[in-house]
Amino acid sequence: MTTFSTPLSRKLGLKYPLVCAPMFLISNKEMIVACAEAGILGSMPSLNCRTSEQFEQDLQWIRSKTDKPFGINVTIGLTDPKRLARDVELCFEYKVPVLLTSYGNPTQLVEQAHAHDTTVFHDVIHLKHAKKAESAGVDGIIAVSQGAGGHAGTVNPYVLIPYLKKHLSVPVISAGCISGGAQVAASLALGAQLAYIGTRFIASTECGAQDRYKEMVVEANHHDIVYTNKISGIHANFLKDTIPDNTTPDRSPEAAKRWRDIWSAGQGVSLIDEVKPISQIVEDIAREYHDAVAALR
Ligand SMILES: Cc1cc2nc3c(=O)[nH]c(=O)nc-3n(C[C@H](O)[C@H](O)[C@H](O)COP(=O)(O)O)c2cc1C
Repeated sequence: MTTFSTPLSRKLGLKYPLVCAPMFLISNKEMIVACAEAGILGSMPSLNCRTSEQFEQDLQWIRSKTDKPFGINVTIGLTDPKRLARDVELCFEYKVPVLLTSYGNPTQLVEQAHAHDTTVFHDVIHLKHAKKAESAGVDGIIAVSQGAGGHAGTVNPYVLIPYLKKHLSVPVISAGCISGGAQVAASLALGAQLAYIGTRFIASTECGAQDRYKEMVVEANHHDIVYTNKISGIHANFLKDTIPDNTTPDRSPEAAKRWRDIWSAGQGVSLIDEVKPISQIVEDIAREYHDAVAALR
């Protein structure tokens, strides 16, 4: 498929301006390598490895399979500081090209990252946090819109993407409900330089999610998604049928365990019809992108 690109995707050396976004518990090293081969930026949270030693083994495995770029997500405020420091150190040691930061202030990390030539993109739902991250020196802002899988915002992408672009000088990356090439074209038209895609990749062969989870993503539509802070204390989108009736808010460190049985996905489930290998998903998205752009002419 013919490539298409943005200044940021060219800078990162990607074939397409797409990121397979990090997903707690279910992203894995196999997805990262499949994305690298497909020409997009794969990623996973470092916390998907139980220990830093396991994380180092995964980095070694990834590096043995590909020299293409990939990203690692560090959830600053949700990670034990010692674990965070070690995982970041390992990212530098194994020359991970991109750090994706979320849930916390990235200032200290950006300084260290830039000293190692590492790019940092920071995840936000509001301009206020985007401004702070920009002042900290991040290289791009991930704008998480309404309806996204995981911890989502409340602002429609039609507003959030151009609004952040207008008020920031760093590139904006669009996250939330991007399940196909038409949404990628829309994201780029709104001014984003990368499309950051999570839910679509739950329904991939390589994803570590249980088969029933993948099936539910294929079967569900947006009416099956609920936006609630009851699971972990922070608002996120979940597959309604996986939430027990008696769920009460839980802000304890133990709350993270709830993500094992209560499954997150975004409203983009409505546009996902099949579980496919990542290579095919990427080629589908690229074809749909070209079709959408051609139809505008
Ligand atoms: C199951 C799941 C787990 C997620 N876990 C994380 C995470 O650990 N860290 C993070 O920064 N974002 C996380 N996200 C958010 C994604 O990185 C991304 O912003 C989001 O999936 C984009 O919206 P979409 O799912 O509608 O494509 C998660 C999303 C999902 C669906």
